[in-house]
Amino acid sequence: MKELVFATNNKHKLEEIRAIMSGKYLIRSLNDIGFYEEIVEDADTIQGNAMIKADCITKRFGMNCFADDTGLEVEALGGAPGVYSARYAGEHCSYQDNVNKMLAAMKGMQNRKAVFRTVIALNLDGKSYLFEGRCEGAIIDAPRGEAGFGYDPIFLPDGYDQTFAEMPSEQKNAISHRGRAMQQLIRFLSEEGL
Ligand code: IMP
Repeated sequence: MKELVFATNNKHKLEEIRAIMSGKYLIRSLNDIGFYEEIVEDADTIQGNAMIKADCITKRFGMNCFADDTGLEVEALGGAPGVYSARYAGEHCSYQDNVNKMLAAMKGMQNRKAVFRTVIALNLDGKSYLFEGRCEGAIIDAPRGEAGFGYDPIFLPDGYDQTFAEMPSEQKNAISHRGRAMQQLIRFLSEEGL
């Protein structure tokens, strides 16, 4: 089976991506290739951060690699937290801290519109490519559901009455920002005959 490094150790993302890619590609994590350093993601866009991660591994190991970066953009917050979604409530904060801060910031607001955006940067045989997936929805006013991670319990995708954290993972993968970006990556790889 063909191999690709996915520049992450996030077990939720690895599970999601291995489920989407199953049978087509062997996905190796950073731990799998023996890379244990922290990659500093200091770009001010999500595509910039995705490229930093993919480039770090390709330069160091000469391997084909992809990396993703995601931001949650809330309209009433002027697009925040965006590229800062992971550390919205501060460095080393928990998912719960971020959810609590978001609910407090949105308290009483009528406009609940939000969009998850994922950019995947792929380095393949000396060339670089970008893919983007979006999922539009709304921030609800109290958490619902136990599955998933991050902002899933407060994100209601448009057209559905379950939050990401209430949906079976296959359903989330089919409509999510990362799922859609991954579908583009897979389509590209198959069009290239890879
Ligand atoms: P990352 O840079 O791709 O790790 O994503 C940044 C942050 O966005 C994460 O720490 C999560 O808080 C949030 N996030 C990313 N993907 C998802 C998702 O699928 N559901 C909920 N939150 C997510």
